[in-house]
Amino acid sequence: MTDLFSKFDPLIEQRATLLATGVRDPFSLVMQRVLSPTEAICNGKHTILLGTYNYMGMTFDADVIAAGKAAFDDFGSGTTGSRVLNGTFSPHKDCEEALKEFYDRKYAMVFSTGYQALLGPISTLAGKGDYIILDIDSHASIWDGCRMGDAEVVPFKHNDIEALEKRLKRVPEGAHKLVVLEGVYSMLGDVAPLKDMVRIAKAHGAMVLVDEAHSMGFIGEHGRGVAEDQGVIDDVDFICGTFSKSVGTVGGFCVSNHPKFEILRLVCRPYVFTAAPPPSVVASAAVSIRKLMHGGNKRAHLWENSKRLHAGLKSLGFQLGTQTPQSAIIAVIMPDLERGAMMWEALLDEGLYVNLARPPATPANMTLLRCSLCAEHSAEQVGEIITRFERAGKKAGILAA
Ligand SMILES: Cc1ncc(COP(=O)(O)O)c(C=O)c1O
Repeated sequence: MTDLFSKFDPLIEQRATLLATGVRDPFSLVMQRVLSPTEAICNGKHTILLGTYNYMGMTFDADVIAAGKAAFDDFGSGTTGSRVLNGTFSPHKDCEEALKEFYDRKYAMVFSTGYQALLGPISTLAGKGDYIILDIDSHASIWDGCRMGDAEVVPFKHNDIEALEKRLKRVPEGAHKLVVLEGVYSMLGDVAPLKDMVRIAKAHGAMVLVDEAHSMGFIGEHGRGVAEDQGVIDDVDFICGTFSKSVGTVGGFCVSNHPKFEILRLVCRPYVFTAAPPPSVVASAAVSIRKLMHGGNKRAHLWENSKRLHAGLKSLGFQLGTQTPQSAIIAVIMPDLERGAMMWEALLDEGLYVNLARPPATPANMTLLRCSLCAEHSAEQVGEIITRFERAGKKAGILAA
């Protein structure tokens, strides 16, 4: 009999080898209690959270929670339906209004997850015979959207402006083109040169979609993301993102000024053929998004945290994903998976949670300890994080003892 699982044998073996060294499974951590956006009880231990993407710390915001509770009372626990049938309640429309205000766009669509907010528009907009030109390090939701839509997919070298231009020049005359970019790339925390890339894409007649999942709320004068920060937001046709990071809940969105945008509600399969997010979730998201519009002080503090952590880890001798802090993600490069897992465990024993990331999610086969800072981390916590990294680094043999 065929065993359809046999293709996973190398991964099963790699996992078994790793666990045989005695390290805890880095991919099955349970948070027993979450105390705040920056602290939880993990394995019975008080732990600082540094791997949650909760950039703006909205998960425990009193207004965000109150809005969710009120929507539970007023609308019940779920929609039990698609947005195009029985799944659109007034909190969904209000959330879309909040997104339009936040991004200053005419149209907004809310999806059940961020993954679907990329999968849906990309697969629907670019179909057979169309071309998608995308960064090779794009998120899985973007790649899956390309596959689902059946367009011709042309990747270019990560963040390479000339490579993008070369690929655009090779697209056959008259073909429809969609350039897909991210504001912040989540593995290394580096920012895309959107100013040049958007200009080049437009010069070649392409439409541009930017995933601002890791920059929303934090980067740009109004927190609209890297496209705003680099002054090209008005040339971007579609901005997509998620509620699972700065907004502090779950869900995703796409905003645009394109006059035909609303037709997507009828033709976008990951929007039509799935249940709408619960009213409590979108009610929380709407309040969170509106509060993020006035998050200037939090943004400034988050930048301070990011700079402090980057400088602290660099001075300890860790190899980091970027030379300078570019976002709220700081990636610490590990020599290999085994030592990465040892370091991850040593940090957890110190009471510090970070994400362990490994191929194929990471670029260039890297093993990374990904740190994501929060606007609610205090300066003291950041100092403590650096101290814990030093102790764990020595224990795991990553730093000289
Ligand atoms: C760049 C990027 N896009 C999209 C997503 C999908 O968002 P969600 O996890 O909210 O579905 C993620 C989440 O990891 C992401 O990092």
